[in-house]
Amino acid sequence: MTDLHDLCKFTKRPLTEEYVDNLKYYLKNGIPSTYTVEEAYNFENGKEDEETTSNTTPLHLICRHIPEDCTEEEIAIASKMVEILLEYGAGWCLVDSDENTPGCILIKRNLKKLPIYTQIVQAGVRAELLLRKVEEIEFVDEEDYLHDVEVNGEEVPELVEESSEVVEKSVEEPQPVEESVEESVEKPVEQPVEAIDPYANDPATNQETYLKTKLEYKDGALVTKENKDGVMMEWESELMRMGSDSLFKGVPEDAEEKKEDDMVVLNIGFGMGIIDTMIQNKKPTKHYICEAHPDVLAKLKRDGWYEKPNVVILEGRWQEQLTKLLSDGNVFFNGIYYDTYSEHYSDMLDLFDFVVGLLKPHGVFSFFNGLGADRQVVYEVYKELVEMDLNNYGLDCKFTEYEVPKETMQAPNNPQPESVWDDIKRSYWSCPVYYHPEARFMEY
Ligand SMILES: C[S@@+](CC[C@H](N)C(=O)[O-])C[C@H]1O[C@@H](n2cnc3c(N)ncnc32)[C@H](O)[C@@H]1O
Repeated sequence: MTDLHDLCKFTKRPLTEEYVDNLKYYLKNGIPSTYTVEEAYNFENGKEDEETTSNTTPLHLICRHIPEDCTEEEIAIASKMVEILLEYGAGWCLVDSDENTPGCILIKRNLKKLPIYTQIVQAGVRAELLLRKVEEIEFVDEEDYLHDVEVNGEEVPELVEESSEVVEKSVEEPQPVEESVEESVEKPVEQPVEAIDPYANDPATNQETYLKTKLEYKDGALVTKENKDGVMMEWESELMRMGSDSLFKGVPEDAEEKKEDDMVVLNIGFGMGIIDTMIQNKKPTKHYICEAHPDVLAKLKRDGWYEKPNVVILEGRWQEQLTKLLSDGNVFFNGIYYDTYSEHYSDMLDLFDFVVGLLKPHGVFSFFNGLGADRQVVYEVYKELVEMDLNNYGLDCKFTEYEVPKETMQAPNNPQPESVWDDIKRSYWSCPVYYHPEARFMEY
């Protein structure tokens, strides 16, 4: 334990500017903001060379030790300290020995209301935006574009600024909270992918593999036959009801216009057909369903969906099917719902191009909002991100909060013995509240 770690344990009250000054002093003198308790322990015990498996950072300590009875002034001091640590590069999503990020610790201590929680979420949003930018950056390949020139008799490399051949360099993304961030952020792919990414051929993250994986409908769920990964589950029915209701709100305000407007909706991803059954019950004029998996398409056939007069089945991936619809240019939707499997946040960003092209001016776009939902603080970061991204497309997104049933949560947040995940290998949900999204064009 170092003085920096001791400082972040707040053993002396009240918290005053002295804490801020000391923190600045340590950081300015070269102690990294991410210096962990584990690293300090190894150092003190002569085990500097040993790798640490967990990262209890100063930010974790602040979140663990900030007193519950802080005064306003003390809260402001803690906020300043967190701001400084973040400025110095403290990681918002590193995990400690209990697999907790700093934000997770605050949630567990019921201290989400503190400004330091919001600061951590905002740091997460900034980090994700930065990561995206870094992935977009085009780097000049040093091997090809470095000229060796002589300066004072010595050869030094000089960067050539203009080149017609610029190659993109993939950048290793930092992934401290692996299981959460991997859900939402695509990895830069280089060949062979298996060598660098053990999940490269996992049906849950690789769409090509998923579409070749056998599925089965079983006990109120659609799962992958071999792995028992949950593709869709019955507990989501209430979320689907919210989604279906949202689609039917995409009508013109003007009564005359409303009478003339045909209700045309699109659902992307049939799964168990929960939302599609709800949509059918509301009798839309036309109901498009886009589905890519052969086993799910077989289910649509068995259950008579192809015979329904107002239903149009788009067989295949939405990426191809919506491209066709958009280029035909004769169908526009009052509502579009998106809930697929084995796709990433980057796919959703691609979808937004189609949404703005296919939605009627008064239409509504909604989706199953499970972005980062296996860790609450990541879920909150993605709520902010998706809202910003939709804004960039001229779509305003409102969220309705819905408290999910306790049996959808994992221990210790689920006090009941049964959980919906009992027979499922990996759970994709661990948040007490669902943020149901409803997006429409801003000017409407
Ligand atoms: C979570 S389920 C949808 C559940 C549905 N909302 C319901 O109420 O039952 C996801 C579905 O999306 C399908 N899917 C996955 N990727 C797709 C893609 N790129 N295009 C079309 N469908 C896709 C899957 O095969 C699966 O049937």
